[in-house]
Amino acid sequence: MKLKINGVTHEVDVDGEMPLLWVLREELDLVGTKYGCGIGACGACNVLIDGVAIRSCLQRVGDVSGDIATVEGTEQDDLLTVVREAWIEKQVAQCGYCQPGQIMTAAALLKVQPSPTDADIDRAFSGNLCRCGTYVRIRQAVRTAATNLASRSGDRERSS
Ligand code: FES
Repeated sequence: MKLKINGVTHEVDVDGEMPLLWVLREELDLVGTKYGCGIGACGACNVLIDGVAIRSCLQRVGDVSGDIATVEGTEQDDLLTVVREAWIEKQVAQCGYCQPGQIMTAAALLKVQPSPTDADIDRAFSGNLCRCGTYVRIRQAVRTAATNLASRSGDRERSS
């Protein structure tokens, strides 16, 4: 089957029942997406499919029909680039293990809610666990990314 990941089409010969997470990590060596619980409870494995955050540990690869974005593709996507830069600016990561999933959740949130409230952020991240407790910095980084996205879109409107 063919999978479009971070703008590149990959052909993989796997059972359609295989979780997308396994295909990413074991077949394509895209190991930025992490295995945490394997039961949809932690969010470490989140990737984007057509901009929506999904648990790749629960996603049958045979059912994937949209474009996949993983943390390795942050430079190919403006929204993910802004989120990544905010994560660096706010120094969110501690051990870093859960952060690819957190970043994907942030991008999915900002796509549908460009100016999220703290309650929106907390709700969106309620399924993403971080054993280091980086939640306060995650909130700050999401707010920073929202501000930077708004100012970029303002710049674009002024120059058009
Ligand atoms: Fe998928 Fe935890 S590894 S939700």
